[in-house]
Amino acid sequence: MAVADRPGARSVPVVPVASGHSIPVLGLGTSHQGGYSHTAVVHALQKCGIRHIDTAKRYGCESLLQRAIRESAVKREDLWITTKLWHSDCGYESTKKACLESCERLGVEYLGLCKSIGVSNFLISHLEQLKEDCVITPHVNQVEYHPFQRPQELVDYCRRRDIVFEGYCPLAKGEALTHPTIIQLAKKYGRTPAQICIRWSIQNGIVTIPKSTKVERIEENCKVFDFTIAEDDVEILNGMHDGRHVSWDPSFIVFLILI
Ligand SMILES: NC(=O)c1ccc[n+]([C@@H]2O[C@H](COP(=O)([O-])OP(=O)(O)OC[C@H]3O[C@@H](n4cnc5c(N)ncnc54)[C@H](OP(=O)(O)O)[C@@H]3O)[C@@H](O)[C@H]2O)c1
Repeated sequence: MAVADRPGARSVPVVPVASGHSIPVLGLGTSHQGGYSHTAVVHALQKCGIRHIDTAKRYGCESLLQRAIRESAVKREDLWITTKLWHSDCGYESTKKACLESCERLGVEYLGLCKSIGVSNFLISHLEQLKEDCVITPHVNQVEYHPFQRPQELVDYCRRRDIVFEGYCPLAKGEALTHPTIIQLAKKYGRTPAQICIRWSIQNGIVTIPKSTKVERIEENCKVFDFTIAEDDVEILNGMHDGRHVSWDPSFIVFLILI
């Protein structure tokens, strides 16, 4: 893990991606559900050192992000932006068109056209299938990851193939924050339950993208680089996996493409 040199902003460590680029380990999620906050995105970029934003065509907020990115005055080259196409955008021409439309809505010239190519919700079986059909190994796989959902076999598989594992729903959509074990660990470390979840993901080597529409929560979620969870407590959190999904179960197969 390297620390990006970004004078003036709090730095978020980055990890290398097989495409030759690097991805900040902490990003900001956005969503069509639960609202979108312009103020929160601008604050994350200007005050919290966030240089990684996750969105999707489906979330309907790409145009809103254009305004927030512009207002933040953060340069395009300093930002990692992930967007996702929908599975109906399949086929070379449709994919290219959908990428260009996303670029237009986001107000950016490239996603490279795509500088790094990823997938989302791909399990080992899907990645094996992709190996049969494609020459490029995906650079990133974005999958649900939080204390109740820790697909270690998939994480290990991605590591072996040099695919960055990016975890979404790190707070289990808020469900993890009221769990007694997490509350207890938060008290022990003098942190909040959200910080424990986010720090745990990062210590497990997972790129993570918590979402909040509240400035004070974004501040909180970004203050995770000045403490360490002891190994035995990481093991306690690792042991909380019960296989539950708070988003959806990808074993029902929908292919999404990340750029
Ligand atoms: N690829 C996929 O299929 C997929 C699926 C789901 C999500 N995602 C991505 O992952 C991102 C994160 O997932 P998510 O939003 O579903 O779940 P999440 O980040 O685990 O949880 C977000 C929820 O927690 C609340 N929250 C955030 N910070 C908090 C804090 N410090 N204290 C208390 N509550 C807090 C948020 O409410 P407020 O907003 O009110 O603060 C929101 O209700 C999404 O935004 C999206 O970019 C991808």
